[in-house]
Amino acid sequence: MHSSAGTEIGGVQRLAVLTSGGDAPGMNAAIRAVVRSAIERGFEVVRVRDGYQGLAGGDFWPMGRREVGGIIQLGGTRLGISRYEPLKTAQGRERALRALREHEITVLVVIGGNGSQSGAAALHAEGAPVIGIASTIDNELYGTDISIGATTAIDVALQAIDLLRVTAASMKRAFLVEVMGRHCGYLTLMAGIAGGTEVIALPEVDLEPASIAQTLCAAYDRGKSHAIAVIAEGAKYDADTLMQYFHEHRDRLGFELRVTKLGHVQRGGAPGVFDRMLGTLLGAAAVDAAFERRYGTLIGMRDGKPTGTLLAEVAGRTKPADTRLLELAHVLAM
Ligand code: F6P
Repeated sequence: MHSSAGTEIGGVQRLAVLTSGGDAPGMNAAIRAVVRSAIERGFEVVRVRDGYQGLAGGDFWPMGRREVGGIIQLGGTRLGISRYEPLKTAQGRERALRALREHEITVLVVIGGNGSQSGAAALHAEGAPVIGIASTIDNELYGTDISIGATTAIDVALQAIDLLRVTAASMKRAFLVEVMGRHCGYLTLMAGIAGGTEVIALPEVDLEPASIAQTLCAAYDRGKSHAIAVIAEGAKYDADTLMQYFHEHRDRLGFELRVTKLGHVQRGGAPGVFDRMLGTLLGAAAVDAAFERRYGTLIGMRDGKPTGTLLAEVAGRTKPADTRLLELAHVLAM
């Protein structure tokens, strides 16, 4: 057996599953795949409510195949979720490790993003048998090409951009859409390219307010009927700063700027086919890893295949957006 936290009692393998961090569309598909694949493999399955907070508090409950029925099409997470800061402390982790021992858990599956997988890596380093599943709308997690929830979140942003284009083309107002993604511009870049916006501002590349204004003016000068900018929430000049700039320079620019912050709306979409399949494939692969006792691994999608990467390699690392696509976006917005 791997560790004291993973003590096997009378040959029974008991798998606990939790979701952690920010909810992401497709998490339910992953939960369903974990629960049903694990039962098929002979595990007893328990769910942990509300992420690491529930883990530390010993909030465990047995879970059967029927409990994950009718959830594959739902956004959010059936298990509940939290951001649990005490896991960053030795004391908080000790509570979690103790709960795993007390509930005789032989493997813990953590469905979540960057912070959650860093937590999983820390628990594993301290003796817990843990397997991670890559899930965050931000898609900045190292160890996966794409994470559960990202494509559905992009679709939500795209719907907003498409709707704003209708009103933007009717009156001479520029629109700015602020997109989530924390310190990573992936969601914004994809939404900007697929939405055909005039400006894409990312945390990875600084764009000055004056340059954004000039690009929007130039769009009108070229005869465009609309001028739309997408700004990542983590960009150096955020939506509020830009709104202030446009307000101050309104007379000179000759048009107004209206701002829409998508915020948490972006996490609430029903998972599209990609996120349902991704959740399903990664969930099943995580159970394969649990069965083969490949603990301390993050299961992500790499080169089109579910692939394991050591949690120790994933912890604290992020993957920036591919800014080479900005050049293409610029050409296509002409
Ligand atoms: O990590 C997912 C995410 O939605 C980020 O895009 C965003 O910055 C953050 O979570 C918001 O966090 P919270 O839901 O805790 O407000």
